Amino acid sequence: MKVLANDGISTTGIALLEKAGYEVITTRVAQEQLASYINRHKIDVLLVRSATKVRKELIDQCPSLKLIGRGGVGMDNIDVNYAREKGIHVVNTPEASSDSVAELVFAHLFGGVRFLHNANRDMPLEGDSNFKNLKKSYAKGIELRGKTLGIVGFGRIGQATAKIALGVGMQVIYHDPYVEEADITVSFFDGQSVSFQLESLSKDEVLKKSDFLTLHLPAQDKYVIGKEELEKAGSIIGIVNAARGGVIDEVALVDALEEGLVSFAGLDVYESEPSPEIRILMHPNISLTPHIGAATEEAQDRIGQQLAEQILERLQA
Ligand SMILES: NC(=O)c1ccc[n+]([C@@H]2O[C@H](COP(=O)([O-])OP(=O)(O)OC[C@H]3O[C@@H](n4cnc5c(N)ncnc54)[C@H](O)[C@@H]3O)[C@@H](O)[C@H]2O)c1
Repeated sequence: MKVLANDGISTTGIALLEKAGYEVITTRVAQEQLASYINRHKIDVLLVRSATKVRKELIDQCPSLKLIGRGGVGMDNIDVNYAREKGIHVVNTPEASSDSVAELVFAHLFGGVRFLHNANRDMPLEGDSNFKNLKKSYAKGIELRGKTLGIVGFGRIGQATAKIALGVGMQVIYHDPYVEEADITVSFFDGQSVSFQLESLSKDEVLKKSDFLTLHLPAQDKYVIGKEELEKAGSIIGIVNAARGGVIDEVALVDALEEGLVSFAGLDVYESEPSPEIRILMHPNISLTPHIGAATEEAQDRIGQQLAEQILERLQA
């Protein structure tokens, strides 16, 4: 059987598939040439991430396809129901990157409370000539320990983020209309673990009680955090969005940063991705990453491994 991993796959995934006798092709075929490539090479399995689109037309044109795999969570780039109606398996790896996204949230939070995003901009320019003044201007940092983290959206990534927060010594509260309560077990390196029972609070309560806010819910029809919510919250030290652009109203966020309602923000996703607004990119109180939440070697490794396992499970039964 032949697997075309059009947006790449980890070496762990390749090794598992090759061991089971699969041929894995990692050539990146352009979207418009994909159908003819799949037919010419009689590809059985097409693996994609978010770049390659697998629409109805492609599915109709490629009768050899038996399985479509998406490395990652969202499957908006695949016509999933249509493929399944045609008897094609469609799989993804929703849990593989949760810990990586959660760690990135904490990179933004730890960086934000000590102004690292700004110190890293200033030090190369003034570190040798203005050290003492920089030292003074970055001297008002705070600790995360003892503060309250509010999590909106308490699924896989929300809960992974809660575990880190609890480990750091933060209080965790959350809002999720579909997860009324949750048992969160924090595991340590030596096998010990501690469990916490948490209950969903109303969004307003979370907004009011949180020192820091992080969002982990799917894209919605309207903003989840807009002007009204930011005003209700009163005063928030930091807000992180590593979910989807459009969950937070960026204009309202910049206004809140300028009015001092919010001290800093950490963004991994943007409303106008892949061309984030200049006002966001240039803002001194925003810590920025280019949608890299899942982009760790460990997550990519787990994605490859989980895709390979699902292929073997479904096509060799
Ligand atoms: N930054 C990145 O690179 C990256 C990587 C992976 C996933 N993500 C994004 O992270 C988000 C969460 O992923 P996940 O794997 O935790 O998903 P998940 O499905 O496990 O959890 C999402 C949670 O949001 C809750 N929810 C839905 N609507 C809500 C609302 N209006 N208010 C509060 N909660 C609501 C759901 O009940 C669910 O528990 C998704 O948007 C996903 O696209 C980003």
